[in-house]
Amino acid sequence: MKQAKARDVDWRSGKTNFYVQFGGDDVLEVARQAADLFFSENAHGVAAFPSVERLQTDVVAWLLDLVEAGPMADGCLTASGSESILFCLKAARDWSRTRRPDLAIPKVVVPRSAHPAFDKAGGLLGIEVVRTPLRADLRADVEAMRRQICARTILVAGSAPQFGHGVVDPIPEIAALAIETNLWVHVDACVGALFAPFARAAGATIPPFDFSIDGVRSISADIHKYGFGAKGASAALFRHSCWRPSYVFTFDDWPIGSYASSGLAGTRSAAPIAAAWAVMRYLGHDGYVRIARQILEAFGRLRDGLEAIEGIEVVGDPDLPVLAWRSADAPLDAIVSAMTRRGWFVRTMTTPRAVHMGMITLHQAPVVDAYLESLRESVAESRAR
Ligand SMILES: Cc1ncc(COP(=O)(O)O)c(C=O)c1O
Repeated sequence: MKQAKARDVDWRSGKTNFYVQFGGDDVLEVARQAADLFFSENAHGVAAFPSVERLQTDVVAWLLDLVEAGPMADGCLTASGSESILFCLKAARDWSRTRRPDLAIPKVVVPRSAHPAFDKAGGLLGIEVVRTPLRADLRADVEAMRRQICARTILVAGSAPQFGHGVVDPIPEIAALAIETNLWVHVDACVGALFAPFARAAGATIPPFDFSIDGVRSISADIHKYGFGAKGASAALFRHSCWRPSYVFTFDDWPIGSYASSGLAGTRSAAPIAAAWAVMRYLGHDGYVRIARQILEAFGRLRDGLEAIEGIEVVGDPDLPVLAWRSADAPLDAIVSAMTRRGWFVRTMTTPRAVHMGMITLHQAPVVDAYLESLRESVAESRAR
C-alpha cells in the first residue's frame, strides 16, 4: 500500500489545494484520535450507541447556530455535500408534492456555477435541473433565473460560495424572487458555512447567505471542508423540522418490524461524526477564527502575488478563499505543463479557461511564495517558447 501511495500527490507539501483541507497538525490529530475511538461503531445503531446520537445532535445544533437558524430548525448529518444537496432537493420535492401532486417532472433553477451535485440529485429524484447564465461578475443572474421560472418550478438555489470562482451568489435577491413566486430556496454553503462566520469574526466582509434571510429553507454545509473534520461529514440543514420525514426514512413492512435511517445509507461509520464533534470542541469559535485569519492571510498573499505577475489575472473577485487565475497572453497549456514539471498538481477549468486552485487551507500557507516563484518562471518560460 505504501508503494502504491508513493505515486500520489504529496498534499502535505502543499502541491495540491484540491481534495484535502488542512487545519493544522493538532487538528488532524484530534480528528484522527476521535475517529479511531469510534472506528467500529455504527451511526445507524443509535439504540446501541447512544453516544453517537448525542454527538450528531451536538454537531447539528452547532451548525444550525452557525447559519443563524431559528428554534424550529433541524437537520441531519450526511456523508458528503452531494448527499446533503440531494436531501435538500428531496425535501423541496416532497413539499411541492403536498401542493402539486399532479407535477410529473418538477424543475429547479440554479446558476450555471452550481455544483454538479444538483444534477446528480435531479437525476435520482426525477427533477429537471436548469442552469442559467451568470452575471459579468460571475454571480447568479437573478433575472435570468426569473425567466426560467414556470408552473413546474419548485426551487431556486445559489451558492455561498460557488466552487468555480469563489463568489457568493446574491442570496437575498434569489430569496426575494422565491418569496414572490412561492418557491423553495436552497443555499449550497458546502464551502462557506464553516468558514464565513469565522472569517467575518476575523474582519472579512462576506455577503449574507444564511437562514437570517427570509425565504431560505435549506442549507448544505460540509464539515469535511472548512470544518476540518474527517472525510464523510456534511449536513443538510432545514429552517423547519417539519421536513424531517424527507430525510428520515421509516419502514415496518418486513419481518423485522420497524426500521429507521437518516440520509442515504443504513450502516454508517460513526468515525467522521466523532471527528467532527471532537474538532469542533477542540477548536471552538476562537480556534476556527484563528485558522480563518491564517487562511485569509495566505489567500491575500497569494492573490496579491498572482495579480503582481504580468499577464496573470485572478478570475472574478472571490469572497472566500477559492481561487482561479488565467493568463492574458502566454499560452495556458504551456504554463500548466511548466508548473506540473515543477511538481505542482494543476487543474484547469473551462469558463473562463483558467487554472482552478480550489480551496486554500493551511497546508498552502508555507508554499505561497514557492508557488508564485514557480509561476513567474513558468510564465517566462512559456512566453519564450
Ligand atoms: C460548492 C460545493 N457544493 C457541493 C460540493 C460537493 O461536496 P462533496 O464533494 O462533499 O459531495 C462541493 C465540492 O467541492 C462544492 O464545492
